[in-house]
Amino acid sequence: MTTALVTGATAGIGHAFARRLAADGHDLVLVARDQERLEATAEELHIGYGVQVQVLVADLVDDDGCRHVEERLSDASRPVDLLVNNAGFSVNRGFVRGDIDAEERMMRVLVRAVLRLSRAAVPGMVDRGHGAVVNVSSVASFLPQSTYSAAKAWVTSFSQGLSTDLAGTGVRVLALCPGFTRTEFHDRAGLNMKGIPGFLWLDADDVVAQGLAALRRNAVVSVPGLQYKAVVAVARHLPLRGLGLVSSRFRGVRRGMR
Ligand SMILES: NC(=O)c1ccc[n+]([C@@H]2O[C@H](COP(=O)([O-])OP(=O)(O)OC[C@H]3O[C@@H](n4cnc5c(N)ncnc54)[C@H](OP(=O)(O)O)[C@@H]3O)[C@@H](O)[C@H]2O)c1
Repeated sequence: MTTALVTGATAGIGHAFARRLAADGHDLVLVARDQERLEATAEELHIGYGVQVQVLVADLVDDDGCRHVEERLSDASRPVDLLVNNAGFSVNRGFVRGDIDAEERMMRVLVRAVLRLSRAAVPGMVDRGHGAVVNVSSVASFLPQSTYSAAKAWVTSFSQGLSTDLAGTGVRVLALCPGFTRTEFHDRAGLNMKGIPGFLWLDADDVVAQGLAALRRNAVVSVPGLQYKAVVAVARHLPLRGLGLVSSRFRGVRRGMR
């Protein structure tokens, strides 16, 4: 029996990860801020799949919240075999007039928590000779648009670099880069997504299935969905100026791409 720790496990992609991992027989450690929702999720998964589920109430914006999860990850007596750095949110304001404190809180969850939780988890995995880290990044990491996309670019690049560092150790790292996925994310950010065509929407269970399949075949970056594979292939070959022009043509889409 292996154990997986999933941050942001009460909703959306994180909840889909927790459900799929429980169905596959993994014990779980679930992290989020809302204790009631965490406990309801733990009960659902324990009763539904017979796995052991621990909950950790932690706000990953806070030093203390982050440290609480780090301590669990580095506890050698209760090894965590798979870390899913998934928790995240977006700030729906432009940088110039927006709230800089809100931007910083977003960076603390999207970047700092991923950095610190990975550092807490990976040494034990290396000692044991196996383990994996899945960092939920975004298609936005390939489209320079905002602080959010810059943070996700860091997540993708960090995952690629860490994967190289860990070659030969038995520890794998994956950057999972979804496009628009039906979750609570856009409502929480107050984003109006009415203009986004149906073919651009992904299902969280499909995103997770494709991510875990990519991890099994030792991929380092996974972009679920053919439509987004095409977007990323084009974006990777455009010079920055061309990318800006393309982005401005799809401003409605771009504003929502989180
Ligand atoms: N949905 C998309 O279109 C999309 C596309 C690309 C990438 N992503 C990425 O996918 C990841 C998951 O997003 P989602 O769409 O599943 O969002 P979601 O449905 O809003 O779920 C977010 C989860 O993160 C937790 N969370 C939020 N802030 C937190 C904090 N400060 N500390 C601890 N937990 C926190 C939430 O629980 P609590 O509120 O209880 O803390 C919740 O469980 C994010 O990293 C996001 O950037 C999403």
